[in-house]
Amino acid sequence: SILEMEVEQINKGSYEHYMQKEIHEQPESLTTTMRGRLIRGGSSKSKTVLLGGLKDHLKTIRRSRRIVFIGCGTSYNAALAARPILEELSGIPVTMEVASDLLDRQGPIYREDTAVFVSQSGETADTLHALEYALENGALCVGITNTVGSAIARNTHCGVHINAGCEIGVASTKAYTSQIVVMAMLALAIGDDTSSSLGRRESIIDGLFDLPNKVREVLKLDQEMKDLAKLLIAEQSLLVFGRGYNYATALEGALKVKEVALMHSEGIIAGEMKHGPLALVDENLPIVVIATRDACFSKQQSVIQQLHARKGRLIMMCSKGDSAAVCPGGSCRVIEVPQVEDCLQPVINVVPLQLLAYHLTVLRGYNVDQPRNLAKSVTTQ
Ligand code: AGP
Repeated sequence: SILEMEVEQINKGSYEHYMQKEIHEQPESLTTTMRGRLIRGGSSKSKTVLLGGLKDHLKTIRRSRRIVFIGCGTSYNAALAARPILEELSGIPVTMEVASDLLDRQGPIYREDTAVFVSQSGETADTLHALEYALENGALCVGITNTVGSAIARNTHCGVHINAGCEIGVASTKAYTSQIVVMAMLALAIGDDTSSSLGRRESIIDGLFDLPNKVREVLKLDQEMKDLAKLLIAEQSLLVFGRGYNYATALEGALKVKEVALMHSEGIIAGEMKHGPLALVDENLPIVVIATRDACFSKQQSVIQQLHARKGRLIMMCSKGDSAAVCPGGSCRVIEVPQVEDCLQPVINVVPLQLLAYHLTVLRGYNVDQPRNLAKSVTTQ
């Protein structure tokens, strides 16, 4: 109806689509996610994290034999992005489960496990069934959802709300970045009893405080990503290479491109390049390589050299000022992004890819907010 259309226009504000609004809203949604949860104590007290819904369960979580992340799609990718920092700060093995696959295999879940269910909607059928399964097997179940009162929030033993605000576009954007921040805070809270990592934890907390500003900065790449989308508009396929903290960024960037722009796209873990994907590389296939500074940088540089040697059509994502380091001949396109604490870099790096997927979709003339065949929350198995 006309009324519905008007309400929609009001909700979208000055934006043309919800996805666009939700991408640009991220400095604010991240601020809301962190509100009241990061504590910068006085001079004698250190910086800490306070997650109200978890504080009575932290001891049990620290004693668990394993932490298992369970989710689907973008929520799975967010957990994958947070996995390295959780392993580092907790010292507990962290494993990943696609919810439907855990159920297909009836994979082992034990009483000594902490199972963390990640879901924007809190209503995804696969994730909900995996939760029932984990409850039956006696695991401590933690929910990370964006929907207060959702089935996953209600049926878990404890949890953290994402607080990113209502997300309407079928493609998850602001919930993804807020999920990563929630899981980074979870890692900080679990690691809070370890004095050897205090310095590391304090720099991450400082990084979190500054993150919304850095996201604001990376959003300025909007026009640049639109120009890149114009170049890629007629392509059949796009590869995205990432590793370490940004393996998840590669998967999530590729998921955005395929689900809204309806272009085949594949996220590839760079360490696997020589084990197959290298065969695809030629002068025509566009490849995004994520090569921002972190402990994996030199390994990523050698991947870049090999891609260059095969005359790959490269689009480099690198830290500000690093163009020459990632693009020796100056022959590739470069996306320079602000550098942040390594474990928070996935929050920054996904933004240009969200913008690219958005612009590709508009330019290719597809429905941005409701891609064909997809639903915002998948309530059937
Ligand atoms: C994200 O862009 C997708 N629409 C989809 O992968 C989604 O993340 C998945 O269905 C899980 O949804 P949830 O977070 O609500 O559980």
